[in-house]
Amino acid sequence: MRNPFVYGEVVTGEDFADRADEIKELARDLKDCEKIFLISPRRYGKTSLIVNVLTELRRNGVYPIYIDLYKATSLHKLLELYSREIALTVETKLERAIRFIREVLPGLRPRVTINAEGNPSIGIDYISNKQEISRFLDEVYDLPQKLALKKKKNFCLAFDEFQEIRNFNGESIEKSMRASFQHHRNVAYLFAGSKKHMLNDMVYNKSRAFYKIGKVINLSKIPREEFRKFLEGKFKNTGFVLEEGVVDKALDLVEDYPYNAQSLCHKLWDMNLDKKKINISDIRIALGKILSEETPFCLSLWDNLTLHQRDVLRAIANFGGEKMFSQEFIAATSIGPGSTLQTSITLLIKKEIIEKNNGIYEITDVFFKEWIKRKTF
Ligand SMILES: Nc1ncnc2c1ncn2[C@@H]1O[C@H](COP(=O)(O)OP(=O)(O)OP(=O)(O)O)[C@@H](O)[C@H]1O
Ligand SMILES: [Mg+2]
Repeated sequence: MRNPFVYGEVVTGEDFADRADEIKELARDLKDCEKIFLISPRRYGKTSLIVNVLTELRRNGVYPIYIDLYKATSLHKLLELYSREIALTVETKLERAIRFIREVLPGLRPRVTINAEGNPSIGIDYISNKQEISRFLDEVYDLPQKLALKKKKNFCLAFDEFQEIRNFNGESIEKSMRASFQHHRNVAYLFAGSKKHMLNDMVYNKSRAFYKIGKVINLSKIPREEFRKFLEGKFKNTGFVLEEGVVDKALDLVEDYPYNAQSLCHKLWDMNLDKKKINISDIRIALGKILSEETPFCLSLWDNLTLHQRDVLRAIANFGGEKMFSQEFIAATSIGPGSTLQTSITLLIKKEIIEKNNGIYEITDVFFKEWIKRKTF
C-alpha cells in the first residue's frame, strides 16, 4: 500500500487538498488574461497550486506554460527554457517542436538533449553574444501573443520563483518584459515567488518596471478545517484508527505548514503501519525520528551561523518572535543591544532562516525550530 502523504514534490489530484477558492479566483482572472502576483512563504504550496490552476486552464481551452526561474541560471538558459516551453505547449511531439522553434525564431539552433530525468528534451545551441540573446528574448516574449491570435486560443504563462529575474542584467530585463507584456491582450501572466520583500519591491516600488502591473495575492496556509479533513481522510481510507484530536495536535505542532504536516503524517503512517492505530503520544515519537533524520541538514545550517545569530534563533524558538525589540524580551533572553540584534535579524532574513509575517519574526522551517529547541534547552 502506498503511503498517502506526499511531501517534497508538487502535489496534484488526490494528493492535493482544498485550495478551491484560490483555484477558482486564479482560474477566472487568468482566463480573463489578467496579470497576477502570487506570493507566499516557502513550502506553502505555490507550485502545486500553480500546476493545478494550469491544469484547470488547459481544460478551459487555454495554452498553459510553466516556467521555473530557478532553472534559468543564465540569460541563455532563460531563452532556452522560454522557447522550449512555448514550443512544447503548441507542439507536443519533440521533432515538431524543434521545427516550430526554427520557423518562428530563425537563427536559433534548437536540438534534442537529454534532461536531468534522462528524458529527451530541447536545448538551444549556446549563444555567447549578450545583445543577440536579448534580441531573441524580445522576440520570445511576444511569441505567445502572436500565437494566440493565430491559433485563436489564449495563453497563460506562469513564472515560478519570479524574483530570480533580478539575478540577470539588473533591471533591463524587467523593463523589456514589461514593455512587451503590457500589449498582450490574449495572454495571462502569473508571477509567483517566495521572497516577499523582493517581490513586494517589484510591484509596490514606483521606480520598478512591474509597478502595479496587476493584483497581488498573498497565499495563506490551507484552512485548518479543510486540511484536517483531508489528512484524516487519508488515514481512514487506508484503514487507520485515530485517537480523538490526533490530526489537530499534529497540525498545532507544525503550525499548519502544508509541507511539514504531510511529512509528519507520512512518518506517523509508516511508523504505525502494523497496528494501524495512532495515538497522540505517537506524534512526539514521529517528530523525534524526523528531527534525527534532519540533523545533518540542521547542523550544517547551525554551524554556519555566528554565536549571536544562534542566540537570536534560540530566543525566537523558545519565546516567540513577537516583541523582539522590547526591553523585557532583550532582558529575558540576554541577546544584547538592539543594534546587534537588528544586524543578526537582517542577516537571518537574508539567509531565509527567519521571516517577518504580520510584525512577528518566525523561523521559516518548523522542524528546524523544533530542532533548535531541543538542542538549546
Ligand atoms: N494543497 C495542498 N494539499 C496537500 N499538500 C500540500 C498542498 N500544498 C502544499 N502541500 C504540501 O507542501 C509541499 C510543498 O508544496 P509546493 O512545492 O507546492 O510548495 P511551494 O510553496 O512551491 O514550495 P517552495 O517554496 O519550496 O517552492 C508538498 O509536497 C505537499 O507536501
Ligand atoms: Mg515552489
